[in-house]
Amino acid sequence: MARVLTGIQSSGRQHLGNILGAIRPAIELAKNPKNDSFLFIADLHSLTTIKDAELRKESVLATAAAWLACGLDTDNSAFYLQSDIVECTELTWYLNCFTPYPMLANAHSFKDKASNLSDVNAGLFDYPVLMASDIILYDAHEVPVGKDQRQHLEITRDIAKTVNNKYNQELLVVPEAKISESIMVIPGTDGRKMSKSYGNVIDVFLPKKQLKKQCMGVVTDSTPLEDPKNPDECNVFALYALLAKESEIETMRQNYLGGNYGFGHAKLALFELILREFEQERIKFDELIANPKFIWSELKKGADKARPIAQSTIKRIRKVMGY
Ligand code: ADP
Ligand code: TRP
Repeated sequence: MARVLTGIQSSGRQHLGNILGAIRPAIELAKNPKNDSFLFIADLHSLTTIKDAELRKESVLATAAAWLACGLDTDNSAFYLQSDIVECTELTWYLNCFTPYPMLANAHSFKDKASNLSDVNAGLFDYPVLMASDIILYDAHEVPVGKDQRQHLEITRDIAKTVNNKYNQELLVVPEAKISESIMVIPGTDGRKMSKSYGNVIDVFLPKKQLKKQCMGVVTDSTPLEDPKNPDECNVFALYALLAKESEIETMRQNYLGGNYGFGHAKLALFELILREFEQERIKFDELIANPKFIWSELKKGADKARPIAQSTIKRIRKVMGY
């Protein structure tokens, strides 16, 4: 049985990019009886950017509600909070001592964040090692992530191999990244990668009015309504095509090419498509958010499953390292 593990940052509400790029593929993998699925909310990673305690709790609840609303079955997986398993921070220290400084200094996500954020703290720098620890702690074999996480997985593999070489044994499982090539980077409303940090998201769980505003805010060029438009260079079309049926995509393509079809019409069609495609998820999300006790109890149930495995890995590592 393959242990499949993935984490999602609790840095805010989950947007369409998170759902299509991470949550849905992970839930599909969890449904496969051949997989032993570990899914966790990376609330320790969130401290690199979020210091406000209330905001963190809200973000954890919203993140968990999104996973549960999207259909995660917590009986067939371990769904837990990273911070509930204290062994994770202990392992991070051990792994830090096997991580070459330049590997972290050259990581592109660090360089990216260091040039965009005002608070460039050591946690931000050490982010990939905490992530390696998340994976290695549970002897994970496969880690499904978006393309943007590829380098973090390479770092994890490097660290695991370094430790194994040092102690001359297969102490740590070297995980494989499972990067779904068919899922592209989902574009945001401004055409860049959809990301909480760019403020260009579509949040499918928002009340209708606000969701509509996000859809109407997708950036387009200024081709006049009457003129034909190129669907392949349009953000609205790209987002529409991610969710629509083949026949609907073709109709939309003809609308663009035919002219007399404005970007406003396309944006409205996108909004209606999102309401249709996420109807059940939106209802469930609202129910869950109104019942935080239930969400915390689901996360505790997951931590109780994950903890014994973490404890046994740490015990194995301590022994080999002489602690
Ligand atoms: P954000 O960029 O909004 O902060 P995260 O870094 O929390 O998102 O990403 C969580 C997960 O969602 C990761 O596995 C990541 O690869 C995936 N993901 C995030 N944004 C996108 C996107 N625009 N397209 C595809 N996958 C995405
Ligand atoms: N860094 C990941 C992201 O931004 C979240 C994450 C933390 C993660 N630890 C992980 C993903 C371990 C996979 C495995 O999306």
